[in-house]
Amino acid sequence: MSERSDRFAGIRQEILEGMEQRAESRAAAFELRKQFLDSKTGKIGQMMKEMKNIAPEERASFGKSVNELKEWAQQKFAELDERMKARELRLRYELEKIDVTMPAEEREVGNLHPITQMRNQLIDVFAGMGFEVVETKEIETDYYNFTALNTPQDHPARDMQDTFYLSPEFLLATQTSAAQIHTMEKKKPPIKMVAAPGKVFRSDDDATHSPMFHQLEGLVVDKKITLCDLKGMLDVFVQKIYGEGATTRLRPSYFPFTEPSVEVDVSCFECGGSGCKLCKGTGWIEILGAGVVNRKVLENCGIDADEYSGLAFGIGIERAAMLKYGINNIKLLFESDLRVLKQINDN
Ligand code: PHE
Repeated sequence: MSERSDRFAGIRQEILEGMEQRAESRAAAFELRKQFLDSKTGKIGQMMKEMKNIAPEERASFGKSVNELKEWAQQKFAELDERMKARELRLRYELEKIDVTMPAEEREVGNLHPITQMRNQLIDVFAGMGFEVVETKEIETDYYNFTALNTPQDHPARDMQDTFYLSPEFLLATQTSAAQIHTMEKKKPPIKMVAAPGKVFRSDDDATHSPMFHQLEGLVVDKKITLCDLKGMLDVFVQKIYGEGATTRLRPSYFPFTEPSVEVDVSCFECGGSGCKLCKGTGWIEILGAGVVNRKVLENCGIDADEYSGLAFGIGIERAAMLKYGINNIKLLFESDLRVLKQINDN
């Protein structure tokens, strides 16, 4: 009898120790439970099978003890499972905890490239004056880039631009002026357009020239358009981009597709006209080429040059940006050095 109660006490002890030492998770507790309570392989389960070997007069009390042990163990394991459940939840909370007072990771905010910023500003200014915006092409035919712009094959003005030819017919656009022809072929006057994004290519490479750069082309065609309209419009444009006090000066020049042709200078916004390093002491800085559209160009596009006249201009976007942001080498605009690009953030 005492041997038997020792055995029962031993099992209780084993269960309590097992719980203490091995039950670290619900899964481990479940495994431990099976070792005792599984009806076939568990230690208590097996005791039930011993019944038949026990003397009949003891059987009832043995059965009662086994049942008590079983109930006690079930109770203990149910409690253990609850504890494990709570513990696992606690651990999960700990793991998933968010500290809302923790300083956020700093995020770097990018900005648009200076050329894109300049182009957007230019487009804004001209859109504000009622210009529609059309796209330019990077590959043009000889006809659109030159011939239709009154620059036939042997014209000396072809030497003004060092052209990358792709074939006798196709070339990399050397200027955005082809957009004038494309526009006038599609639309009848009145026309008021600026063309962008304006990638153009010339075999030219130094501190102020890059083999690829950008232009913004403008074209107005209507009745009675004169150079005065150009001057008035450009004054508004330079004031919006370079400040209230800015003004323009027109100097005679030559382009085959405009007659008369002009180079346009803006008054130096650095020194206000008295002369400084930026304007090389002259008080003026050249910013674009322009002119009254040559009647031959209008005629090439089927527009009656006696009824209509036009003006056109081409702004170098890099040049406009270099002046506005005080950049002295065009390469800085193409090197993608963040130390430079981060400093220029206008929009
Ligand atoms: N296409 C000329 C150039 O690239 C600029 C220009 C455009 C001049 C329109 C007059 C009119 O130099």
